[in-house]
Amino acid sequence: MDDERAQAFLPYGRQNIDESDIEAVIAALKSPYVTQGPLVEDFEAGLCDYLGADYATVVCNGTAALHLAYAALDIGPGDEIITAPLTFAATANAARYLNAELRFADVDPDSGNILPSSVATLVGPKTKAIVAVHLGGLPCDMQELRNVADRHNLWLVEDAAHALGATYRGHRIGSGLADLATFSFHPVKHLTTGEGGAVLTNNNLLKERLDRLRHHGVERCSDKFSNKSPGRWYYEVQELGYNYRLTDFQCALGLSQLEKQPAALKRRREIASRYRARISAGLGDYVSAQRSYDDRQSAYHLFPVLIDFDALGISREEVMDSLERQGIGTQVHYIPVSWQPYYQERYGQPQAQVGVHHYYQRTLSLPMYPGLGDTEVDHVVDSLARALGQQLPAKVAS
Ligand SMILES: Cc1ncc(COP(=O)(O)O)c(C=O)c1O
Repeated sequence: MDDERAQAFLPYGRQNIDESDIEAVIAALKSPYVTQGPLVEDFEAGLCDYLGADYATVVCNGTAALHLAYAALDIGPGDEIITAPLTFAATANAARYLNAELRFADVDPDSGNILPSSVATLVGPKTKAIVAVHLGGLPCDMQELRNVADRHNLWLVEDAAHALGATYRGHRIGSGLADLATFSFHPVKHLTTGEGGAVLTNNNLLKERLDRLRHHGVERCSDKFSNKSPGRWYYEVQELGYNYRLTDFQCALGLSQLEKQPAALKRRREIASRYRARISAGLGDYVSAQRSYDDRQSAYHLFPVLIDFDALGISREEVMDSLERQGIGTQVHYIPVSWQPYYQERYGQPQAQVGVHHYYQRTLSLPMYPGLGDTEVDHVVDSLARALGQQLPAKVAS
């Protein structure tokens, strides 16, 4: 069985939907609600419990979560946000939806995470927020970023799309290390609702604003009306909002998936340990795992390795080809956003950033999802060794 499984194609990430998830969705579809029923608040409460936050606002995708987070902070024309270029386009695009501008900071060459020292050099009179991206699920240095934010009176936001369950100095990402934290529930992430996302905060005023912006800027609470209410049907559109609602049946899926997160996270960490052990058992001269830190635990949305392609005299394309022929999907996270034509046209050729360049040239994400067995992890490492023309690393105990 294990040998057969090792032959099946292994993508770099994959959702994990079982019968209990399917039953939960069917039950929600049979209920009187399709959208905006009780499961929305239940899912929000579940997320708060899991992450240790006071408030959650669930939305229709992670990009909408970023857009609402920035909007709730009044980020707009004339403002700048500082973020990392090693992220998915959404982190930056969401700021452009509001006509704000981006400054891209350098990253640590071995983790890909934003460097607080680089952020500090970019702060100027227009800076409104710092947006940390926990690449692959590895937390950024939140204390140092908080120090920079506090020194300059800036908002601190986390794009935690990769980091559900990650911890920094014993605190869960999303529990209040930043003013707002956003998550994505796209299928390749830890937990899926099909499409979906959330913003978490401990600030009740931001929570109210996020809820209002999610639903067209509508206010239903009579204490907050600008005009006198003529009756119970009355509501007010108090600002320009959006339709970023998440449906009840998606929340049913989210709740069901949430129950399985502790076990899934444990398995991701076991897989990561096995990868690390086998890589250091034979490939360590040319391959290293993403940097790790004693004061933080990655949630391992991804398992990026850094490969010295130059020293090996082989290209990343050749390695990806070879791995694909051996049944293994890999991906590059990410082409720096600042190098994308849209951002180059807007901001010009990006300045040479040593960390960004060094990380991007070497990175490759190997398969990482809880359904991956030990035999499959070994198959990935052995295939990588073959692709790099190296001997197979020694086995490690299961
Ligand atoms: C770092 C990061 N931020 C934001 C997003 C956007 O999430 P979504 O695809 O749910 O809109 C993603 C999605 O891949 C992501 O990886």
